[in-house]
Amino acid sequence: MTTTTLGTTTGTVLEASGVTMRFGGLTAVRDVSLTVGSGEIVGLIGPNGAGKTTFFNCLTGLYVPTEGAVSYKGTRLSRKPHLVTQAGIARTFQNIRLFANMTVLENVLVGRHTRTKEGLWSALLRGPGFKKAETTSEERAMELLEFTGLAHKRDHLARNLPYGEQRKLEIARALASEPGLLLLDEPTAGMNPQETRATQDLVFAIRDRGTAVLVIEHDMRFIFNLCDRVAVLVQGQKLVEGTPDIVQADERVIAAYLGTPVENGNGNGNGDSTAETAEEASKTNTAETAEAADEETGDTP
Ligand SMILES: Nc1ncnc2c1ncn2[C@@H]1O[C@H](COP(=O)(O)OP(=O)(O)O)[C@@H](O)[C@H]1O
Ligand SMILES: [Mg+2]
Repeated sequence: MTTTTLGTTTGTVLEASGVTMRFGGLTAVRDVSLTVGSGEIVGLIGPNGAGKTTFFNCLTGLYVPTEGAVSYKGTRLSRKPHLVTQAGIARTFQNIRLFANMTVLENVLVGRHTRTKEGLWSALLRGPGFKKAETTSEERAMELLEFTGLAHKRDHLARNLPYGEQRKLEIARALASEPGLLLLDEPTAGMNPQETRATQDLVFAIRDRGTAVLVIEHDMRFIFNLCDRVAVLVQGQKLVEGTPDIVQADERVIAAYLGTPVENGNGNGNGDSTAETAEEASKTNTAETAEAADEETGDTP
């Protein structure tokens, strides 16, 4: 393990050990350990309610885990979200959180505030020290908009972007904090197949720029194409972890997905193979999540 902040050396980027999160009588995450190495893309899958988002919240300081420890590049993380971002972990949310009435460019500039001396308020109020930093910041922000394919939308209000582009903008904003690790919570929820494929390429490109990625997603094809390693959470516990081949072939994983009640199911019980049925279940989950996220689109943090 290394404690360098350059993010170019090999080593462990994230180390979560024995993370447990209880809400009253409910244990949402139970004794989960997970590492992400530099240059890695790691997937986190599991049925709805398995504790995936809660685990992310424990990594980013949004929740203080009941038990366990989280380290980033060998240093124990603070429990304050802005200090976690400062340390080098950025995230996107399952339910998109953009500043709906700010432009695309402004949203990315806000994401940069942990990396500028001037800070958030100076950036928003355009204080005296801000002008100097502004040009650099804007250049960096525009570079990220180019990278995510949103440069032509720089002056559009975030709330007017189509859904898929809002998800991309969230990624651009997260990247603006120059993270060594990016956490993506259902980045393709609500996307069509082309957008999903573009997101896959984007995640590869992010990794190639030197940012490790931990991604939650219901879309199995997306996860298994993308990830070097996949961990499966079921009822708060890590059931299986391994390469996509190993996880895909694991009977317990298939069983865990088939065991999930599929709400609004339209009776597809026509003797499908288990793999197809599991995929149907995951599609249904994705659609539900997309609906839920749609309702929240436009919320400000
Ligand atoms: N703030 C909270 N208070 C109480 N229970 C919560 C809270 N957040 C999540 N939970 C519960 O924890 C469990 C895991 O939820 P979540 O992490 O959102 O699952 P996933 O992201 O895998 O679908 C669920 O039973 C959920 O209701
Ligand atoms: Mg979730």
